[in-house]
Amino acid sequence: DVVYRAGVYGRHPRVPTVYRALAREAERRLDARAHGYVAGGAGDEATQRADRTAFDRWSVVPRVLRDVSRRDTSVELFGRRLPAPVLLGPVGALELVHPEGDLAVARAAAAVGVPMVFSNQASVPMETTAAAMGDSPRWMQLYWSTSDELVESLLGRAEASGCDAVVVTLDTTMLGWRPRDLDLGHLPFALGKGIAQYTSDPVFRRLVEERAAATAARPTGAAAGPVDRQPRPNLAAVRALVGMARAWPGPLVENLRSPLPRAAVETFLSIYSRPSITWADLAWLRERTRLPIVLKGVLHPDDARRAVDEGVDGLVVSTHGGRQVDRSIAALDALPDVVDAVADRVPVLFDSGVRSGADVLVAVALGARAVLLGRPYAWGLGVAGEDGVRQVVEDVLGEFDLTLGLTGHTAVDQLTREALRRRP
Ligand code: FNR
Repeated sequence: DVVYRAGVYGRHPRVPTVYRALAREAERRLDARAHGYVAGGAGDEATQRADRTAFDRWSVVPRVLRDVSRRDTSVELFGRRLPAPVLLGPVGALELVHPEGDLAVARAAAAVGVPMVFSNQASVPMETTAAAMGDSPRWMQLYWSTSDELVESLLGRAEASGCDAVVVTLDTTMLGWRPRDLDLGHLPFALGKGIAQYTSDPVFRRLVEERAAATAARPTGAAAGPVDRQPRPNLAAVRALVGMARAWPGPLVENLRSPLPRAAVETFLSIYSRPSITWADLAWLRERTRLPIVLKGVLHPDDARRAVDEGVDGLVVSTHGGRQVDRSIAALDALPDVVDAVADRVPVLFDSGVRSGADVLVAVALGARAVLLGRPYAWGLGVAGEDGVRQVVEDVLGEFDLTLGLTGHTAVDQLTREALRRRP
């Protein structure tokens, strides 16, 4: 119907409907560094390829004569009914691909009614993004900072911004080895686009200033210990960092030779993530928010089981789009075992490699309650802003609805592994 009508009435899509064509169009339009940042992955990008080929190992076996004239694609998640098992996953530094960044994504998400997960590395403070969404659902993603106070502040802001859940990303305690970013000089370029949640935070501002003052007070020269050989932040650097949210895309960010003074960047890098976190820290987090806690980046069934035992409210099976560990198990290959380990105690979400409505169907049939989109909507944003994001999401939802019906189902909870066969 949709397809015929589009042809008959000469509807021209704003962005290519074919994912590969969309990605190519984005590559054509975007600055090489912005494109490299979004497209790239860890190491040889084997995980990213594996995330896709994993889908090729599953086939759907359609059923016929089951009255599929009326279908319901909605699902419930943390007490809210969503139009489809689809969310927009957290993608940082979106302003790299479009000047309206997170705001354009938020408007598109709200128009379609799918939740947007605010990235901790967003280009726009969550309060501003939330304000663009009306009552539409939104979640917040957290990188566990070295500062307890900053974590508490971010959680409080998420609650005040109307977020329905907090997604704690565990696969990025350190940034992965990303050759494209290394070669293209990613850091000064992208960092400046991804620190708005920090520069808008009163705790972060105070921490930066305190650190700068402490470093400036240290002795110099021969008396100085190894720490003092590090470049040291000066007040201008601190102000630059704190003011970056407003300053970009000024020369600080664009000119690789005079990026943010290096010391201020180092300060940020030491704050944004805490590689020392362990299971023991989860209880602390649990006490500090009333929001459901969802752990993102879980791939091992034992970790999944432990997480549920520790009282978390949901999981996201994810390789972070192959951006963290090269030669990792593909997210889709990890999904069934995690689903079995969790045994319906909490919802299991999924991302990494979802490109179409048929992909959504396969992930859901393997036990995912919902999936998160990443690169597809980032490309839509890069090619056509808010309209582009909206079209990408509507295309995925439209194809999901059709495939649901064409395979003989009328509701999402009818999708089980029974619908799938493993390819020989
Ligand atoms: C991400 N992802 C991500 N995840 C997260 O928890 N916080 C973040 O800030 C980001 N930032 C980010 C930037 C870019 C450019 C990409 C492509 C991805 C990971 C994201 O949430 C999701 O796990 C992946 O995008 C899924 O892979 P695909 O399907 O997009 O390939």
